[in-house]
Amino acid sequence: MQRTLILLKPDCFQRRLVGEILSRFERKGLNIVAMKLIQVTPELSKQHYAEHAEKPFYPSLEDFITSAPVVALALEGLDAIAVVREMLGATNGLKAAPGTIRGDFSSSRQMNLVHASDSPESAARELDLYFSKEEFVDSKDELARFMR
Ligand code: TYD
Ligand code: MG
Repeated sequence: MQRTLILLKPDCFQRRLVGEILSRFERKGLNIVAMKLIQVTPELSKQHYAEHAEKPFYPSLEDFITSAPVVALALEGLDAIAVVREMLGATNGLKAAPGTIRGDFSSSRQMNLVHASDSPESAARELDLYFSKEEFVDSKDELARFMR
């Protein structure tokens, strides 16, 4: 089992696509094990996008990611990191394949609706940025409650 960090970005929130996209992850069989609505600060943006901080597109990316609330969540499942990246599609919405989240809902390179960790190392780092240990539920325990 793996956990991966997802952000439903400001465009997702503003376009009322939060439910639609959460629904896709649920229908795939991934478990939500932590979730909250937050406003990303410039400081958090710089930590989150550390690998991009020196790139020419970073200032605009920071303006965007801090422009409205985001939903931060952790998804758990078998091979969840790669599975979710496949569900997102290519970074640029114009190039993302139909059937993927970005392919179906985005026509922009920057406003591409969803962030997802791209490796086990980034998942560990990013989950730690957004959630404390106490904020995770044990998905097996939660499901077991409904089976009693
Ligand atoms: P990146 O990590 O390359 O993409 P992904 O989100 O698929 O992991 O880039 C991070 C975000 O930065 C990306 O989601 C959108 C934005 N971005 C731009 O605005 N312009 C660019 O040229 C690139 C490469 C990314
Ligand atoms: Mg990335």
